Amino acid sequence: MATVETPKASTGTRLRFKINGRDSEVAVSPVERLSRVLRENLGLTGTKVGCDAGDCGACTVLLDGEPVTSCLVAAGQAEGCEVTTVEGLRARAPLFGQLQDSFLRHGAAQCGICTPGMLMAATALLEQNRTPSEDEVMDAIGGVLCRCTGYRKIIYAILKAAEEQTDVSPAAGAAVGKRLARLDGHRKIEGTEIFGGDGIPAGTLTARAIRCPYNRAGFRFGNLDAFVAAHPGIHAVLTAEDIPGENRYGVIPPFADQPVFAESEARFRGEAVAAVVGEAEAVEHLDPASFPVSWEERPALTSVEAALAADAPRIHAHREGNVLVRGRVVRGEVEKALTEADVVVEEEYETGFVEHAYIEPEAGWARRVGDGIEIEACTQSPYMDRADIARILGIPPAAVRIIPTAVGGGFGSKLDLSVQPFIAVAAWHLGKPVRMVYTRVESIVSTTKRHPARMRIRAGAGRDGRLIALDFSADFNTGAYSSWGPTVAARVPVHASGPYVVPHYRALTRAVHTNLVPAGAFRGFGVPQTAIAQEQAYDELANRLGMDRLEFRIVNALTNDTPTVTGQVLGAGVGIRACLEALRPRWKAALAEAAAFNAATRGPVRRGVGIAGMWYGCGNTSLPNPSTMRVGLKADGRIALHQGAVDIGQGSNTIVAQICADAMGAPIERFDLVSGDTAITPDCGKTSASRQTFVTGKAAQMAGAELRRAIVGLAGCCDCATIQFQDGCVTVTEGGKEHVLKLHELPLDEHGYVLTREATFDPPTQPLDADGQGIPYAVFGFGAHMAEVAVETELGTVKVLKITAAHDVGRAINPTLIEGQIEGGAAQGLGHALMEEFFPGKGENLHDYLIPTSGDMPPVESILIEDPSPIGPFGAKGIGEQAVIPTAPAILNAIHHATGVRMRRVPATPDRIRAAILAARHEKSPA
Ligand code: FES
Ligand code: FES
Repeated sequence: MATVETPKASTGTRLRFKINGRDSEVAVSPVERLSRVLRENLGLTGTKVGCDAGDCGACTVLLDGEPVTSCLVAAGQAEGCEVTTVEGLRARAPLFGQLQDSFLRHGAAQCGICTPGMLMAATALLEQNRTPSEDEVMDAIGGVLCRCTGYRKIIYAILKAAEEQTDVSPAAGAAVGKRLARLDGHRKIEGTEIFGGDGIPAGTLTARAIRCPYNRAGFRFGNLDAFVAAHPGIHAVLTAEDIPGENRYGVIPPFADQPVFAESEARFRGEAVAAVVGEAEAVEHLDPASFPVSWEERPALTSVEAALAADAPRIHAHREGNVLVRGRVVRGEVEKALTEADVVVEEEYETGFVEHAYIEPEAGWARRVGDGIEIEACTQSPYMDRADIARILGIPPAAVRIIPTAVGGGFGSKLDLSVQPFIAVAAWHLGKPVRMVYTRVESIVSTTKRHPARMRIRAGAGRDGRLIALDFSADFNTGAYSSWGPTVAARVPVHASGPYVVPHYRALTRAVHTNLVPAGAFRGFGVPQTAIAQEQAYDELANRLGMDRLEFRIVNALTNDTPTVTGQVLGAGVGIRACLEALRPRWKAALAEAAAFNAATRGPVRRGVGIAGMWYGCGNTSLPNPSTMRVGLKADGRIALHQGAVDIGQGSNTIVAQICADAMGAPIERFDLVSGDTAITPDCGKTSASRQTFVTGKAAQMAGAELRRAIVGLAGCCDCATIQFQDGCVTVTEGGKEHVLKLHELPLDEHGYVLTREATFDPPTQPLDADGQGIPYAVFGFGAHMAEVAVETELGTVKVLKITAAHDVGRAINPTLIEGQIEGGAAQGLGHALMEEFFPGKGENLHDYLIPTSGDMPPVESILIEDPSPIGPFGAKGIGEQAVIPTAPAILNAIHHATGVRMRRVPATPDRIRAAILAARHEKSPA
């Protein structure tokens, strides 16, 4: 009998299982979670943990062939059973290897954290039924959540699993535009990808934060030394006094205001005041009530209204009126123009906190190396983490090494620090490796959210349907600390017009502090909230003018030659009109279908069709935003791409390589990725603001072109020469004459390569003046979504029947990955429109906080428009945030079309829709 020994000293009952076909025995408590035994005792970290509560399905394994959530199975229950995990899938039967390959080929794995659970659920289905229907697939994966893909590519990959397909590598110089499988995809489908909670060395200590249970509270510690002494296995308690450097961090240095540990008062529920560090068992089983801290609950500001009241206390002493920052863009004479407009609408809209709900809770580990620190953790921004950790530890940035793990979804929240300061400070003091893995509840209570918004909008148009003026103002609840509040307040005024010509314009914003969880970056930096107001107001204008809602948008669409609301004339690459026109035939057909359904049906279900447009500036707003790319020719003829842009599932590892390959004229399979690590990759900036394809991609194009130039130069040839890469040599051909560079015979540079080239690209923007006029972004992405819905008017429930999404991506570097972004964005937009709202202090888990499941997602048809950017690499623009912005307003406009009610409070939950329908009926026929 083969035995798998536990890697750590174990106590408990010896339990026997058959794991992936091998007999195994472990000594554990019979009540231990099976997921934990698999991961911690058997090292099978392909099984992921997203909630430990049966809600996410990430831990799905097969128990005697049946799919189970292993976090809810006690190890004792599994004794004597056969357990199959993702690591054993390929060996189980050829079909399951094909299933994994199908996931890879069809783009079904983005971040990959849900992929093992999805594969196991699909395997259980295919064991029973080799040719399932789409509905059967959706049922089978219904218990596994995915936050990235919108499920459509997962469903498709399962349906296609039995089909044999072969992949053909593109020829040299022809990678751009190809549907290549992601280069880092094998690890995701095999379960060998290392996320923040994986790959942690045995014996690493565990840190756990002690968090404030009130919205605002003073606190006092008891005898911490006595506490440590009384708890075997606890090595230390850390508080603000233990911060070696500054007890302060923040993503925008001038606004940095968040302490690692609160000092005398905690400003939000969930803020850390201390951390306990020790052996995992001792730390995890610690009763928090035994920790010596006493709280004094204080009156808290829990709404923007309360925070703005004249007598409100200041949450930060130096921020008058609790206003963190204001944003402003003004053009023309908005008041005068509104009085002259033929039609004016005036409306208010409100949205709530939205939780990122990535399936991977924050996790990582740190170790002290001499006078430096190394951190392996999930992050979207390694260089920003490095700067903040250096400040916290009081050491130079060069002494901090950040090694990003795979990121199991980020969507903006993993731009901010989470576990990093705790593990860094603990490892620094204790001189031992320390890990921290947030629980789901901890992740929800303490990390950033989408900003709640209160928006007022007045929009005016002429009888010809042309927009004349827009007056927009909004307050964003930025919570207790600044995070990305300044970015939201600055970006929204630039975007509140939507992608339309608005001659007279005023947009004013404020980010307002409250005693609630900090709001930060979430896919769109406030623009998705803004689009909910602006696109519904435009629908109202079109309706009052008696115009078709799509044609209203086409009439007003920006062109290459018309100025934006900041006075910028883009000159080229303005593809909004093309997006809207691409939807026209489908729009007409959908309207006709909805009208026919409504005419033929007497029941409570009414159909509606909605449309919404969007634009989104790629990169920082009027701020430097560079990426640096390094590419090296190795002596064996392979090419090293030092790709520091963190791939959080969106595909930058693949897309940036495709761009660089074509810039060099080299086959993509020659590339070796050297992924983000501040010690070995240059700074590619943060993965946010839809900037990596555009900014890092451009740097990769420049570096690739320079390396090509250097190679042909080394051969004494000009740029017109052709290059062939072979093992150990490069052949450069010019005028029919071949020059063979034998790479092993050439000296190596300081990077260990025959030739290395680096290039930096910083998008050409200009500062905005006091009225917000200038060039905030070098490139915008454009798009429009059409939503078809059925509303059950007696219940208020909405079924989204289809989303059709047209996006101008400039150049589709990898259409499969772009479609994946669009489908995933549509899923998040659907959640925003219909179901997602986080109430601090309530529902801090994934069974109360609902995100779309596979059953909620309709088909998504993507239409890719390629109106090239003159600046982007091969004309490419970003797509990450663009994809989410128009979905919610398109659905809300469809609900209005179906029912006649305008949903001004989002999400449009059944109770709110039903109440709005009843109110409208009451208005029509008051008792
Ligand atoms: S970790 Fe088991 S269902 Fe989420
Ligand atoms: S790919 Fe499914 S959660 Fe990221």
